[in-house]
Amino acid sequence: MSPPDVLEKLVSLCKRRGFIFQSSEIYGGTGSVWDYGPLGVELKRNIKDRWWNAMVRARDDIEGLDAAILMHPRVWEASEHVANFTDPLVDCGNCKKRFRADDPRIKGTPGTPDGQCPACGTKGKLSEPRLFNLMFKTFMGPVEDSAAVVYLRPETAQGIYVNFLNVQGSTRQRVPFGIAQIGKAFRNEITPGNFIFRTREFEQMEMQFFVDPAATAPATTDMEWFEYWKAQRLEWHRALGLSPDRLQFHQHSKEELAHYARAAFDIQFDFGGTLGFQEVEGVHHRGDFDLSRHQQFSGKKLEYIDQVTNRRYLPFIIETSVGADRAMLAVLVNGYREETVEGEDEGRTVLGLAAAIAPIKAGVFPLVKKDGMPEFAEKLTTELRKRFPVFYDESGAIGRRYRRQDEVGTPFCVTVDGQTTQDQTVTIRDRDTLKQERVAADRVGDWIAPRVTA
Ligand code: GAP
Repeated sequence: MSPPDVLEKLVSLCKRRGFIFQSSEIYGGTGSVWDYGPLGVELKRNIKDRWWNAMVRARDDIEGLDAAILMHPRVWEASEHVANFTDPLVDCGNCKKRFRADDPRIKGTPGTPDGQCPACGTKGKLSEPRLFNLMFKTFMGPVEDSAAVVYLRPETAQGIYVNFLNVQGSTRQRVPFGIAQIGKAFRNEITPGNFIFRTREFEQMEMQFFVDPAATAPATTDMEWFEYWKAQRLEWHRALGLSPDRLQFHQHSKEELAHYARAAFDIQFDFGGTLGFQEVEGVHHRGDFDLSRHQQFSGKKLEYIDQVTNRRYLPFIIETSVGADRAMLAVLVNGYREETVEGEDEGRTVLGLAAAIAPIKAGVFPLVKKDGMPEFAEKLTTELRKRFPVFYDESGAIGRRYRRQDEVGTPFCVTVDGQTTQDQTVTIRDRDTLKQERVAADRVGDWIAPRVTA
């Protein structure tokens, strides 16, 4: 059975505590576009940094890139996004709502008298499915004609393919090697929703790994690289703190495979409730589809030349593609819990985020606002802030202050109390175990730092 649905509670917590706001809220909101508030931007940045460190900085066989969102329109013809990046759409003639034709809530067959609208229930008013391209179109320059059409990229991957030889030549990398980037992507989704799960503007963290299509043992073959990246990426999600029993692979059947893919697996996370297991990341074997199409459409050779054997070839590509926003939703869902506390009437809400990605690493509190405690706590805050994000709070009862930090996932709370002024020690409370340890004030930074960087 799936864990309970916590999305609605998360939407409210995220707004209240400054993680995520609806875009342009004062104008009634923009459909499925979200803004990241002070804590949300820190959490998402920590997730992106972890990905960048694991995929680029910690390896010598992957290079970073930051390609532009706007690209030459021919890119999207070569990639087949103009022709194929479509969803079948049906409209209800009665309530004017739109649905994907494969929406499981639709009863009967759209375009026939028995097709029933899932929103208003009217029969026979659903249109026949028509294809709807998901790319956002705009114009480059002052003239709004067909020659000036450009698209907001629906994936970051194409920026990597068109720069394959630029990166390879400038870094002198040899196949096998990869190129990674993090950036915005845009899709005019017909049925976005479930908070930041499916949005129209989102961020992708993508890596394209170029391998020799003819490699055989003892060299690593393309399929062995594919398996390697599947395992690496699953491990990354586990290390992010996602429960292993909420993660699984889903292999794409022939019908599900994208037009470019030879093989594909999704890494799915169990979002709970009716959403259940859903894709957070795709690992795709794209063959030489992309490079050969760009070679054909640009008229420029994109072959790799093996300097040792003098062989020229188009490498195969193994792609890993994860949504930063979706990964963030997964850690929020995974971490959310409500619990009772022994000996206390009031329960607490906790975001059990891994300490390494928590937006605030420590709360610092004076037990009471007198006897030099606020001054001591403020000085400690200034010292700790040099090393990691901390939050100073002196308002309200100490229990309330702990609760406020639990709710935003702060792993440690440091309290300056009556004993501090006598022996220069403070207590450090652990968010999950609630245990308190007494530590010398000048050692607090050294105590916390290794626990929040792993
Ligand atoms: N380059 C391959 C590619 O884009 P995809 O499966 O369409 O593959 C990869 O997308 C990842 O991007 C997904 O696993 C998901 O995490 C994220 N993603 C895709 N569409 C999204 C959307 N509308 N909103 C949020 N995240 C999305």
